[in-house]
Amino acid sequence: MKALILLPFLLVTTVLGDPVRITIERAPSHDVPKTLNGIFFEDINYGADGGLYAELIQNRSFEHEDALAAWSQAGRGGMGTIQISEEKPFHSKNPHFLRLEVSDPGHGFGVANEGWDGIALNGGETYPFSILVRHVSGRGKLLVRLVAEDGSSLAESILSGIGSDWKRLQGVLKPSRSADRAKFEVLALVPGVTDIDMVSLFPAKTWNNRPNGLRPDLVKALKDLKPGFVRFPGGCIVEGQNMGNAYRWKETIGDIATRPEKKNRWMDSFQVKAPQYYQTYGLGFYEYFLLCEDLGAEPLPILNCGMSCQFEKGCQVVCGKELDPYIQDALDLIEFANGAASSTWGAKRAAMGHPEPFHLKFLGIGNEQWGPEYLERYKAFYEKLKGLHPGIQFVMATGPGVGDAKWKFLMDQIRNGLPADIIDEHYYRSPGWFLANAGMYDHYDRKGPKVFAGEYAAHLPKRDGDVLEAKSQLRAAIAEAVMLTGFLRNSDVVVMSSYAPLFARKDHTQWTPDLIYFDNRRVCLTPSYHVQALFSRNRPDAVLPMTLTGNDLPSDPATKSAAKSRLHAVAGLDRVTGQTLLFVVNPGRQSEKATIVPATGSFAKGEAVCTVLSGDPESINTLENQEVVKPVTTRIPIEETISINFPPDSVTLLRMP
Ligand code: AHR
Repeated sequence: MKALILLPFLLVTTVLGDPVRITIERAPSHDVPKTLNGIFFEDINYGADGGLYAELIQNRSFEHEDALAAWSQAGRGGMGTIQISEEKPFHSKNPHFLRLEVSDPGHGFGVANEGWDGIALNGGETYPFSILVRHVSGRGKLLVRLVAEDGSSLAESILSGIGSDWKRLQGVLKPSRSADRAKFEVLALVPGVTDIDMVSLFPAKTWNNRPNGLRPDLVKALKDLKPGFVRFPGGCIVEGQNMGNAYRWKETIGDIATRPEKKNRWMDSFQVKAPQYYQTYGLGFYEYFLLCEDLGAEPLPILNCGMSCQFEKGCQVVCGKELDPYIQDALDLIEFANGAASSTWGAKRAAMGHPEPFHLKFLGIGNEQWGPEYLERYKAFYEKLKGLHPGIQFVMATGPGVGDAKWKFLMDQIRNGLPADIIDEHYYRSPGWFLANAGMYDHYDRKGPKVFAGEYAAHLPKRDGDVLEAKSQLRAAIAEAVMLTGFLRNSDVVVMSSYAPLFARKDHTQWTPDLIYFDNRRVCLTPSYHVQALFSRNRPDAVLPMTLTGNDLPSDPATKSAAKSRLHAVAGLDRVTGQTLLFVVNPGRQSEKATIVPATGSFAKGEAVCTVLSGDPESINTLENQEVVKPVTTRIPIEETISINFPPDSVTLLRMP
């Protein structure tokens, strides 16, 4: 017989009032879409370059405005000059490169790249590098090496065979020991003039060991969420500050040396400036599709609809015939993802290594757009795309905030006949708002479009001096869990949902709170992450209707609390195991007792598996202390009904036989 571990909360006795009675029906009301819980990836907070994309060289193609950003002169006693040139580049999309002019090489003269906050290396592991080189005069011979903080060499490779035409030279470095802030050096060993470009270094250990791949620890964090879809690549990044850095997917495929580098829209973010924040597009649409495939998630690309960010002064809109190329981008993307390998864009996918289609089913028309300008463009896109691809579900924007005037304007259009498959709603609001609005979809128009809660997070005020992770408190996660019970209960209409933003790099963050924090070596999963994981990993196949009696909270004008219910709950059926799943959130400051009964008959005797996330509502996980808040799983005995105390500030999942 298995030993029983008694959860601490089962022993809690200070329970006020009669127990809440939770009665669960046996017959499901509706099936839950597999896409209900997903992720939204945006290149914000160094989420892509310097983040998920495993490239270790920053400013690898010398295209930053400060062309030598992250580079410095390096050498071992030699003499020469380093300058940026545009004379006959390897590719017109990457017009700048570095020219090394060496009069006396000494033991090597050249440049060093510092990566992002240094390059973190693991001793004994392999690091493939590649570099575009051309020899202008003299003889060509380069030394590439990895150098530790103290200047000692960790690994070296000599490159010869350099000709007068651009050539990609490749090799592998194996550092003799680990280092946290190493540099990558390229040094000329003979006098002469040598051009270098596209200097790239990756760990061999990327996710699935892919070249040009992704950081395995960060992908694992995503995989563990079991997301039903991935929304990418943004976010405001899709819109751009102006049409000049609006995201155009065609620029993000093919050889990385032919992908242009663009200023990241978050470089001039309204909170924190990040002057060296660029997008290499090394993580481009092909890589996003591969990621979706690896995660077993549906791809949901969001495309620019001919409008730049409406929050920026002087938002640009594309008019008349000039909108056609944007609509064509969408049509070509569908062909890139779904077309035969013999089709024009399917052939490009096949050439990159994926002859099979990616089975695209969802496509977003614009990010967070609003107003008559959006309406006009949305209609033009939808009419053309839906006509040619009736099987694809198109996602329409509804502006930045559910319930505001921008949202109401577009919702009125829908009520007046505007066609829409799925609408994308965003809410960054206080925990109190989440508690008060968890039932907002209970009375939603079932005849209208489906809903995608595309960006949401409970926001707490930031205080000066707070650590990076300060806003990711358990109490925010609990408010989000309350909302998630509403999404699941209404998953006949809410078909997708995703927290935002997903990633934030320590010391390079433009927006908080975020779901996952990281630096070069560490990954911090926030309480919000654990809530997402609990709901996503345990997504039931169908919803079981239920009633809660004795659940009303007396109104309390003193605290102005938005909460009306003691507990928030939703039940579902796991058809594979036959188990009943019950999610219960107690956002209150006191323990709540509940009796759980089936509407007919009784539960099978046995054990329920009980997973609980609870603690001090202000507690946070940090990169230094990652496990302050984490789920605890135990087993509890079941008789014909279940009586249980839900601890204050808790989210509980019960899996009952
Ligand atoms: O998630 C951060 C930003 O919030 C997104 O880029 C944008 O869509 C929203 O305003």
